[in-house]
Amino acid sequence: MNAPAQIRQDAALSPAQTLWDLTGDDMAAVDALILDRMQSSVGMIPDLAQHLVGAGGKRLRPLLTITAAQLCGYASCSKGGTAHHKLAAAVEFIHSATLLHDDVVDESALRRGKKPANLIWGNSASILVGDFLFARAFNLMVETGSMEALGILSNASSVIAEGEVQQLAALRNLAMTEETYMQVIEAKTAALFAAATEVAPVIADCPATERDALREYGLKLGLAFQLVDDALDYGGMASALGKSVGDDFREGKMTLPVIRALETASEDDKAFWRRVIVDHDQKDVDLEKAVSMLRASGALESTMELAKRYSQDAADALNVFPQSSLRDTLKELAGFVVARIS
Ligand code: IPE
Ligand code: IPE
Ligand code: MG
Ligand code: MG
Repeated sequence: MNAPAQIRQDAALSPAQTLWDLTGDDMAAVDALILDRMQSSVGMIPDLAQHLVGAGGKRLRPLLTITAAQLCGYASCSKGGTAHHKLAAAVEFIHSATLLHDDVVDESALRRGKKPANLIWGNSASILVGDFLFARAFNLMVETGSMEALGILSNASSVIAEGEVQQLAALRNLAMTEETYMQVIEAKTAALFAAATEVAPVIADCPATERDALREYGLKLGLAFQLVDDALDYGGMASALGKSVGDDFREGKMTLPVIRALETASEDDKAFWRRVIVDHDQKDVDLEKAVSMLRASGALESTMELAKRYSQDAADALNVFPQSSLRDTLKELAGFVVARIS
C-alpha cells in the first residue's frame, strides 16, 4: 500500500513518509476499512464520499492514531486486535464529515485540488452525506467495545461543532481576541488531533502518564497545524494546498495573522480592515494588499513563531516515552507540520 499522493510527492523523505513506511500495513487496513464503510445502497452516498476520500488528503489524523497505537504496543498487548484500525478509520470519517460541512459553510471553491462536493451535488447532499460519515464513525467506535474511546471521540465531535459555531458567531468581528481565537482553533481542529492520539493508549491500556503525553502531543500538534493553516491562507500557494488561498479573508474570518496585525495597525490600516472584514466591501486588489500588510507588520511571522512553539511543546510531550524510531519520527512530524506548504 502506498502513501497518499500528497505525502509522496511533497515530502519523499518526510517524517510523514517514514511513519507511513513504518505503519504501511496498518494504514492499508485503515484505508480498506474506510472504503468498505463508506458504502451504501443509496448510490449518492458512495459517489459523493468517494469524490472526497478518493482525492486523498494527507490522512494525518489516522496516521497519528496508528502510530500512537504502535508506540503503545497495542498489537502485542493483552487487548490487541483491530480496534486501532476501526478508531483510525472513525477519526478520518469524522474529519471527512467536518470537511463536507466546512466547504458548505465556508463556500470554498477548492478542496483536495478538486471542486468541493457541494458544488457538484449541492449543499443539501454534502451536509447529509457528512452526517452519514459521522454516523458511520460512531458505528466503528461502538464496534471496538471501548466506552472510553467512544467517550473521547464523541466528546471531540461535539467540541468541533462548538468551535465551528463559536467561529461563526465571531465572523466579521474585528474585536475578536487572541484568547477567543485560540479557543476556536483548539475546538475546531486540535480537539480531533488530541482525540486521535489519546484513543491509542486507551485501547492499549497504557499508564496515565503515557495517555496524558499522547493527548498533549495531539493537542499541541493540532494547534500548530491550524496556526500554520491560517498563515498559509494568506501566504501559501493554492497549487500546493489543494485549497484556494484567501478563503478566510473573503469570508471575513478573524484569524491570528489579522488579530496580530490589528494590534499595531495605523488608523489607515484599521480603516482598511474595517472595510474588508466588517463592511465586507472587498475589491480584487484587497487580498494582495492584505497579504503585504500582514507581511510588513510581522503578523504572519509571529503566527508561524507561535506555531513553532506549539510544535516544540508537542515534541517535548513525548519525552515520557523511551527513545525509539517511532517516537523520534513523531517528534520530527511536529517540526514537519510547521514547515508544510500543503
Ligand atoms: C484541513 O485538514 C482542515 C484543517 C484542520 C485545516 P487537512 O489539511 O489535514 O486536510 P486533508 O485531509 O489533508 O485534505
Ligand atoms: C478547519 O476549518 C476545521 C474543520 C474543518 C472543522 P477551516 O475552514 O479553517 O479549514 P480549511 O482551510 O477549509 O481546510
Ligand atoms: Mg471553516
Ligand atoms: Mg474552510
